[in-house]
Amino acid sequence: MNRIYITTPLYYVNAEPHLGHTYTTVVADALKRYYRSIGYETFLLTGTDEHGDKIAQAAAANGTTPKEYADRISGIFRSTWDTCGIAYDHFIRTTDDYHQDYVRRVLQKIYDAGDIYFGEYGGFYCYGCERFYTEKELVDGKCPDHQTTPDFISEKNYFFRMSKYQQPLIDAIQRKPDLIRPERYRSEVLAFLREPLEDLCISRPTSRLQWGIPMPFDDKYVTYVWFDALLNYVSGLDHQGSDAFATFWPVAQHFIAKDILKPHAIYWPTMLMAAGLPLYDHLNVHGYWVMDSGKMSKSLGNVIRPLEMKARFGMDAFRYFLLREMAFGQDAKFSEDALVTRINADLANNLGNLVSRVLAMQQKYFGGKVQPLPKDWPAEDVELRDKFAQAEKELHGYLAELQFHRALESVWSALDHANRYVVQTAPFTLIKDPAKQERVGAVLHHLLEAVRTLARLLAPFLPETARELGALLALDGDALRVPWGEGFGTGHQVNPPKVLFPRIETEPKR
Ligand code: MSP
Repeated sequence: MNRIYITTPLYYVNAEPHLGHTYTTVVADALKRYYRSIGYETFLLTGTDEHGDKIAQAAAANGTTPKEYADRISGIFRSTWDTCGIAYDHFIRTTDDYHQDYVRRVLQKIYDAGDIYFGEYGGFYCYGCERFYTEKELVDGKCPDHQTTPDFISEKNYFFRMSKYQQPLIDAIQRKPDLIRPERYRSEVLAFLREPLEDLCISRPTSRLQWGIPMPFDDKYVTYVWFDALLNYVSGLDHQGSDAFATFWPVAQHFIAKDILKPHAIYWPTMLMAAGLPLYDHLNVHGYWVMDSGKMSKSLGNVIRPLEMKARFGMDAFRYFLLREMAFGQDAKFSEDALVTRINADLANNLGNLVSRVLAMQQKYFGGKVQPLPKDWPAEDVELRDKFAQAEKELHGYLAELQFHRALESVWSALDHANRYVVQTAPFTLIKDPAKQERVGAVLHHLLEAVRTLARLLAPFLPETARELGALLALDGDALRVPWGEGFGTGHQVNPPKVLFPRIETEPKR
């Protein structure tokens, strides 16, 4: 059986879910639904990353303990994904006991093997990033992400012998050209690996930080956040039983944005090598959502919240925009204007109009009863069917390359064709001629087949809409999958139309 294991990053609990988190999670969800629809066994893991200075500081700022604070924000992430209909299989928290035990076991194993040692470390530490910077990495002496001046810290710590795995990692990336994709991120990683790889500091003294997993071999130290967080991808599976691990780990696909490329492309595979575990199957890296006004930030008041988007526009419309607008791997711009334009043009006009026109005519001319198809179909009917078959073929190809926007473009090009077919065949004119009734029945039958095909093709991207289309057609599961022309028995009763996506009226621009 074919299988896929999909993961999102574990989101830090120092901020509530926003557009960026939602994008990665929606991509993971859409892909899981897609693979399930083509018969794969799937497992989707998401969750929250809860240890470290950043969280301890945020908790203190909120006048609460780290655990209470993490419980609250983690709960918000989980309930947000539930409300958004994300089909995750397990939600992991790095504070879960089984995860902490797993991390300690792996640390002990690597320590026993001699790949963790005690040493002196000095460096520029950015609390925002939870990591040390080398002087070279700073921009004008500041953290390039947070624009703050990092503190110089020198202390004794534990180190992971990452340098030892530099060549094996280069070999692994070269052996499998799509291990890290798209290509630009693979090149970035290989370029980075042309410089000598340093060992990784993986601990913090408890005198400075208590909010972490204690080192199994020295309780005066806790684990550095990345070592703790990255292991979730295996501890979360292991927790489901050893079968789940054996089944799903070989087909692991991580989804992240470019901000956390280095930990995932360098720390994580070398950690896996040291732990004697096989590497993931793919690391899939997307770009950043940027706002018209620049970076999304609380202080600028331009943070996009998924629940607010769902309440205002509907979850499917928001999902559609995210998947249609961003070319996976590149940055994309978010603006409400662009969102509204897409909803109105693609969903309200294109998709919504087709469905309502077809169902309205079916109702008006035949009381909702599907009419028979003749044995021989005119060329225009065959062409309509073929356009949808072509869209489906393209969709499979694009999704294999994570080109969500192109997959949707293909479906919409078939949809455009269906709208043109309505104009071309003009059932609303033919119906006035009693001799053309049969043809009108056949034209509408084909159009219902188009709607049925849309329900199937769109299900991974617009799950609620797909369900509604199925309900309007009075069809479920298996009936959606049979070939074109076999979906409806003669006399099958479909429902009257309803508005799927109301047009969003905007204030006229001055
Ligand atoms: N806790 C770490 C990840 C540990 S994974 C073992 C972390 N958390 S985070 O909360 O900062 O989440 C980062 C991720 O959120 C990105 O990699 C991406 O998936 C998503 N995004 C956050 N902001 C984003 C944008 N503006 N645009 C696109 N996605 C971004 O890093």
